[in-house]
Amino acid sequence: MTDRPVALITGGGGAIGAAFARQLAARGYHPVIADLDAEAAATVAAEVGGTAHGLDVSDHQANRDLVDTILSRHGRLDTVCLHAGVPTGQRATEPLDLIRYRRATAVNIDGVVFGIDAALPALSVRGGHIIVTSTLAVLDPSRANPLYTLTKSAVLGFVRALANPLKPRNITINALCPGFVDTPMLVALRPLLTEQGYPLLTPDDVAAAMGHVIDTASTGDAWALVPGQPPTRYEYLPIPPSLMPDGTPAPELQLPAPLAPTPTTGRV
Ligand SMILES: NC(=O)c1ccc[n+]([C@@H]2O[C@H](COP(=O)([O-])OP(=O)(O)OC[C@H]3O[C@@H](n4cnc5c(N)ncnc54)[C@H](O)[C@@H]3O)[C@@H](O)[C@H]2O)c1
Repeated sequence: MTDRPVALITGGGGAIGAAFARQLAARGYHPVIADLDAEAAATVAAEVGGTAHGLDVSDHQANRDLVDTILSRHGRLDTVCLHAGVPTGQRATEPLDLIRYRRATAVNIDGVVFGIDAALPALSVRGGHIIVTSTLAVLDPSRANPLYTLTKSAVLGFVRALANPLKPRNITINALCPGFVDTPMLVALRPLLTEQGYPLLTPDDVAAAMGHVIDTASTGDAWALVPGQPPTRYEYLPIPPSLMPDGTPAPELQLPAPLAPTPTTGRV
């Protein structure tokens, strides 16, 4: 049991995940580093004084088991960074490689949905923060990998739709949308970017943005991260108001109760 707030970071063994762990430790959290690569998670945990766990985020039960373990060891969970992600390894116009496609959707989409499902009962006890790592490609997909953009757009939609239902539980949820970050994931593109002298974000830039987003207490937002600029809350254009057949404004929509948040039940 701990009085310190506890943060879970999936994909925490990677370059940005490790920076998240350092940032959260500096903010007084006990970081729990979860990664498919258990050895990498252990290295990061040793560096930041956290705890390491092997986790495949695409395994629904494994996400729940991990949160149960966190609760039995530390008694609480306050912040969750759902950061594990993979590229598709597939070019835009190639025939679909089903195995790669399923892997990308399993990690990038299921990993976020399952992580939130597992963490919500625990986060609902005191309120907290959920940070999902999306990508700048969801805001500017013109030059992006389409299947990767599909997965990261799905989670951005999920984040935006969950913000209101989570408000009564004092849980914020936001998406980070970084441009190119100098990590091993860039391996294929790196020579091209270097050749053109294109600036890259560092893992610490992304971690600082994550801390900033928590501090703003915003929710349901996409945060654009580009080199040399502060994190920018992305502004969507307003949608034109619906009109009745006679051209008068449509009445305000009243949503039925099932769409309202349900009380916390279950494992906490
Ligand atoms: N590097 C970039 O330019 C960039 C830009 C925008 C968004 N992102 C996103 O940032 C996140 C991490 O990227 P990174 O650059 O730090 O890459 P990285 O490869 O260094 O880190 C990814 C981590 O996720 C882990 N992982 C992979 N599959 C997993 C699974 N099924 N379960 C648990 N862990 C798993 C890997 O072992 C690795 O430690 C990804 O979600 C990625 O899409 C990266």
